[in-house]
Amino acid sequence: MSLLQSLEWRYATKKFDDSKKISAEQLDTLLKTVQLTPSSYGLQHYKILVVEDAAIREQLKEASYGQSQLTDASQVIVFAAETEINEAYVKRYIDYTAEVRQIERAQLEQFENVILGTVSHKTEDEKIAWAHKQAYIALGVLVSAASELEIDTCPMEGFDTSKFDEILGLKEKGLTSSVIVTIGYRSPDDHYSHLAKVRKTAEDLFIKI
Ligand SMILES: Cc1cc2nc3c(=O)[nH]c(=O)nc-3n(C[C@H](O)[C@H](O)[C@H](O)COP(=O)(O)O)c2cc1C
Repeated sequence: MSLLQSLEWRYATKKFDDSKKISAEQLDTLLKTVQLTPSSYGLQHYKILVVEDAAIREQLKEASYGQSQLTDASQVIVFAAETEINEAYVKRYIDYTAEVRQIERAQLEQFENVILGTVSHKTEDEKIAWAHKQAYIALGVLVSAASELEIDTCPMEGFDTSKFDEILGLKEKGLTSSVIVTIGYRSPDDHYSHLAKVRKTAEDLFIKI
């Protein structure tokens, strides 16, 4: 399928087939794809949790207003924003870039100062909002990539972030939950799979200047 066909095929899956699991290989491909998501300055202001543990998923379901996708899907992916985007974080990123690109760190000094300038001008709340936005880009990449692999998804923000943070111990990790996506395979009796897509018309959506 082309990407366009894949995106037409996908829908926000309400009912997953709980007997079907994503193979380790497919999951690996999906995660490798999401790893390539672009981010502002390349900072990747988030971590991505892959939750399989049944008991934890029961707790997450309760914290998601009982939405069945949390327990019926193959995995639950949690995008969690970094809450400590600071000088140390930027320095680690620059160190790592120099290592990966095999260049002198000094060559990256100007770039580092630009990032540090941006970071220092943001309040703590603005930095967390910034990190959440980056996480949503990764969500978009994951949903699109999954459709190409014929893996079903349900992106979800209908959950209690503070409960998720507590259940997953995110605060101690310097993280806070942004958005989640459940991944797996649709149940044949999920009537949502047959509904026509509702999207703004091109005239309504695009403004050409
Ligand atoms: C950020 C985001 C959050 C969403 N949250 C939920 C959710 O909590 N529960 C749910 O069943 N669907 C959720 N959805 C699915 C949307 O309702 C769905 O994508 C939209 O209605 C368009 O339908 P389609 O994806 O099936 O084409 C969410 C989608 C996005 C992108």
